[in-house]
Amino acid sequence: MMTNTQWAFTQEVHPNPTSIDAIAAHLENPGFGRIFTDHMVTARWTEERGWHDAKVEFRKPFQLDPACAVLHYAQEIFEGMKAYRGAGDSVLLFRPTENARRFQRSAERMAMAPVPEALFIKAVEALVSADKRWIPDGDGSLYLRPFMFASETFLGVRPSKEYIFCVIACPVGPYFKNGNSAVTVWVSDEYTRAAPGGTGAAKCGGNYAASLLAQAQAAEHGCDQVVFLDAVEHRWVEELGGMNIFFSMADGTLVTPPLNGNILPGITRASVIDLARNEGITVEERPYSFDQWCADVASGHLREVFACGTAAVIAGVGRIRHVGGELVIGDGTVGPVTERIRDLLTGIQRGRIDDPLSWVHHAG
Ligand code: PLP
Ligand code: COI
Repeated sequence: MMTNTQWAFTQEVHPNPTSIDAIAAHLENPGFGRIFTDHMVTARWTEERGWHDAKVEFRKPFQLDPACAVLHYAQEIFEGMKAYRGAGDSVLLFRPTENARRFQRSAERMAMAPVPEALFIKAVEALVSADKRWIPDGDGSLYLRPFMFASETFLGVRPSKEYIFCVIACPVGPYFKNGNSAVTVWVSDEYTRAAPGGTGAAKCGGNYAASLLAQAQAAEHGCDQVVFLDAVEHRWVEELGGMNIFFSMADGTLVTPPLNGNILPGITRASVIDLARNEGITVEERPYSFDQWCADVASGHLREVFACGTAAVIAGVGRIRHVGGELVIGDGTVGPVTERIRDLLTGIQRGRIDDPLSWVHHAG
């Protein structure tokens, strides 16, 4: 069994690494989640051995028994983070310890074996180092996807006694097809994402499976993302399918729904709160209803709305659609507060401006 101080990774030699020219062609327009790098990192957990067999391997399919537990009861969690190319060919990660800790909390909620923080960070660093050639320049980044699933061959309903932890990576550009333009969101009157006592605060695959139909309805209404309201009163704004949400008011305050156990505690969300407060902006984490949202658009009290997350970064929301019609926020474009927060956050993440809260982690 490996101890915390002893995470040594076996390194497989890739038989046929992608050529520099082919990588350059992929990086021209990577999109999001379509292109994958040459390597992956894996580690295994069993009751007898704990975490063991940590490897940097070349990327290849898993071989799973049809009775593999994850295929039946969805005991699976994941993370999303990015590596950036900094000055002098350095590689920067943004607050990776926060991802490691959230991964542990998700594991606990899903009754899985937690990955030690040091193993998580080393795995991410090992992959970034093996696939450094794949990190885009400019405004792109290397999206990292650590995940873990129940790998025991067993059909009884109980926590698995075996897990596989893996990290894969893909070079990415903007998450939304319109780049940095304002997005339109659909407020679902039919579906909810998470109920009290459920798994809303965990980053488990099942939450996303449950969101897909609502997201498909959003797309049918010409929207980029779905906004979920709370499951009990169907009144309070919670979050989007894959992002948290902020409201910027005429009096200068920022409002965002509180961490009530149903929404994902976004690392971007936490960073926006800290950055805004550091800039002297008042941030209120408080319940905000959809009715109030509509009233504040009508009165002009609400000036800007933005969504935030690792994939989306900071995305201005220009329009909301719902069963009752459409509302335009401000002039429907990305507002100055959203722009300012986006510039600050991305500047820090990419090592282009001062990092006042020491968030950037040098990965090599
Ligand atoms: N909410 C949901 C449902 C998400 O999937 C994400 C993305 O990870 C977020 C919020 C934002 O979290 P973070 O800022 O940590 O990426
Ligand atoms: C992320 O932002 O990392 C997510 O997991 C959200 C998903 C929409 C890609």
